[in-house]
Amino acid sequence: MIGELIIFIITSTFFYYLYVYKKIHYFFERRGVKFLSGVPMFGNMYDSTFAKKHYVEDLNAVYRAFPDEKYVGLIEGCTPIVLIRDPDLIKMITIKDFDHFVNHKEFFDKDIDPLFGGSLFMMKDDKWRDMRVTLSPAFTGSKMRLMMNFMSEVGHNITDHIKEHISDEFNVEDLVRRYTLDVIASAGFGLQINSVKDKENEFFKMSTDLFVSNFNRKLAMYICSQYPLFGKKLGLKIFPEEITSFFKKTITRTMDYREKNNVVRHDMIHLLMEASKGTLKNTSIEKDDVGFATTEETLKPRSVTRKWTEDEIISQLFTFFAAGFDSTAGAITFSVHELAVNPEVQEKLYQEIKGFEEYGKTLSYENVAQLKYMDCVINETMRKWPPSIFMDRVCSKPYKLPPPREGGKPYQLNPGDIVYNMVNVIHMDEKFHPKPEVFDPDRFSDENKHKIQPFTFMPFGMGPRNCIASRFALLEMKVFLYDLILHYKIVKSQKTSYPVRLKKDDFRIKACGGTYVKFESRT
Ligand code: HEM
Ligand SMILES: *[C@@H]1O[C@H](CO)[C@@H](O)[C@H](O)[C@H]1NC(C)=O
Ligand SMILES: *[C@@H]1O[C@H](CO)[C@@H](O)[C@H](O)[C@H]1NC(C)=O
Ligand SMILES: *[C@@H]1O[C@H](CO)[C@@H](O)[C@H](O)[C@H]1NC(C)=O
Repeated sequence: MIGELIIFIITSTFFYYLYVYKKIHYFFERRGVKFLSGVPMFGNMYDSTFAKKHYVEDLNAVYRAFPDEKYVGLIEGCTPIVLIRDPDLIKMITIKDFDHFVNHKEFFDKDIDPLFGGSLFMMKDDKWRDMRVTLSPAFTGSKMRLMMNFMSEVGHNITDHIKEHISDEFNVEDLVRRYTLDVIASAGFGLQINSVKDKENEFFKMSTDLFVSNFNRKLAMYICSQYPLFGKKLGLKIFPEEITSFFKKTITRTMDYREKNNVVRHDMIHLLMEASKGTLKNTSIEKDDVGFATTEETLKPRSVTRKWTEDEIISQLFTFFAAGFDSTAGAITFSVHELAVNPEVQEKLYQEIKGFEEYGKTLSYENVAQLKYMDCVINETMRKWPPSIFMDRVCSKPYKLPPPREGGKPYQLNPGDIVYNMVNVIHMDEKFHPKPEVFDPDRFSDENKHKIQPFTFMPFGMGPRNCIASRFALLEMKVFLYDLILHYKIVKSQKTSYPVRLKKDDFRIKACGGTYVKFESRT
């Protein structure tokens, strides 16, 4: 296999020099789109492929190179991509003309990585619509209310754990990942993992392995994204068999147990088992939702109801797990970091929470929206450190983009063409968010909020294909911070990195050198 790979790389490099590299330049030139020429084979992604820079920095370089364009050409390996930098255009693509851009780009092949390949994220067109309609009821207000109990329980276990180790310097990421893992295991699978106590448990180990980025995995990802057919031929898997089969077994075992023993617990596995039987009701959005990113459910259920197979259900549960655990952990980790390095923000948040307690309230699904400053802190964290970098969309029906600049010519997108609607770099563009490096939750205050231009803040994506679980994630973050801030003061420690630089060899938004703080008891 190695020999085959080397020959393949050499010939493709040669081929690329002669043909593809120039062809991509010509492709953009002919369409009147600006671009940076990049490096053969790697395009504009050379530095991040070799961990000289973070992926976001490579994208940022292209984004910043042409400040007056609505969109520019991005060369990702050998693929020409249209990088959308204009908020109005993002609105058109993700909402107004959504019908032309329903799907994400193919990344996981259904035959090779069935768990990811069969997920809601990867599903296409009508199948995606049907699954989205099936799953939406799992994330309505009444379901979130039930899930909140799981979050609070795990949250208490975390604060207890901190108490026992109060003099330690904490690795925030490790701590938070144990929280989000336990939450999704409990709310999703009905499993009590308790990974703060049981440090070495298999579930935690498997979940961590799922996300490590090592050389082999990066190579596999590079080949799968740039040469999908070749990747398929080699049978390259991005996720090791051992890990995916572990999850599959865990889910199947739980489902069987519930079926046999008639166990009902109001978690995601229960909701999905109902969905597979077609007994999950309440497809319409409920009216009682307070203060959360309410998804405008524009999707109407189609008249035919699809029967989902067990494998399809397993795939969704796995995706909730994979999509939910790491991204939420990243966001919470950065909120803890920002509170440590911005003590005045932390104090203001503490005062809000303390006032809440003194009023005799306990946090509940109904009153969580009253914590207005908390909402601002969370949103400011998600602005500055959005876990997702862009919203990719594949054109499925021919579409004419308006000219990239006045006097330019329109750009014809054809089925299969890929666009990236930028998120991260727009959040950090001073044109939209003055002094973007400053952590200032008051950007989201009632007085200031109107100054935020639409489609310049979109941590959960936009339109019908946005994050299905945004309320779950927001609630999970709030429950954690509430308990933490009420009991502890977060302080900088020796290893707190400031200012943060991104870990270059990781696809995710993570701090180089890790995230460390200390806690001081408030009582
Ligand atoms: C802070 C945490 C999270 C962030 C920042 C986040 C962000 C996102 C983004 C940006 C998208 C794509 C949106 C688009 O392309 O317009 C997405 C999709 C998705 N997310 Fe999340 N997410 C988070 C937590 C979660 C959790 C907790 C779950 C599950 C329990 C989840 C499940 C999903 C699924 C299933 C999709 C695919 C939706 C579809 O294609 O219809 N996410 N998320
Ligand atoms: C919280 O801790 C208690 C005591 O260690 C344990 O019994 C319980 O299962 C934990 N909860 C979760 C959700 O892990
Ligand atoms: C549907 O929602 C209503 C109110 O939102 C609730 O009373 C009812 O119990 C729900 N039905 C199911 C099957 O969950
Ligand atoms: C925070 O962001 C969410 C979307 O992620 C939004 O629904 C909410 O209104 C925002 N809150 C404030 C105070 O801007």
